[in-house]
Amino acid sequence: MKLLESLKAQLSKPNSTKSDRRSFLQIVGTGGVLASLAGFFYQSFRSLLPNVLYEAPQKFKIGLPSQLADGVTFLEDRRLYVFKEAKSYYAISGACTHLGCTVKYTKLNSPKQVEIGNEKKNITFEFHCPCHGSKFYADGTNYAGPAPSPLHWYKLEIAPDDGQLVVNLGEEVEQNFRLTV
Ligand code: FES
Repeated sequence: MKLLESLKAQLSKPNSTKSDRRSFLQIVGTGGVLASLAGFFYQSFRSLLPNVLYEAPQKFKIGLPSQLADGVTFLEDRRLYVFKEAKSYYAISGACTHLGCTVKYTKLNSPKQVEIGNEKKNITFEFHCPCHGSKFYADGTNYAGPAPSPLHWYKLEIAPDDGQLVVNLGEEVEQNFRLTV
């Protein structure tokens, strides 16, 4: 403000002389230098602070096992399919291993016998990716399209404090993982 007032005062003088113009240029120059210094110090200070990426926690509760519906539950915000079969539970990622689109749980019209590894299995659903057509068997094994690997499985556990189901996205497990409660 003081700088502006001083500038106004200089300009409003009826008989501007050479020295007035010089002091005007001095003020403008000083202002520029001060602005550059302020920018420099701000950037220096900012570089000392880490760039923190705020992500959702890897471990989270999804309620009591008894509250989960039989069959499949899709946790949309986590892109995770959680299965409850009798008293066992497991979780399969809904993120396609090609470029990360969300795969769709697709019920088959009739059970299909497939060979996974050396085992023959009857499956009643699959996962299909809407982006480039990758397909995965019920256990997440990729069998068609560009997806290079199976869907990820994540660990489930029981919270010791309140008995809720806990998903741990930080820990992958094998396709035969089952949490039995
Ligand atoms: S992202 Fe799923 S097939 Fe490409």
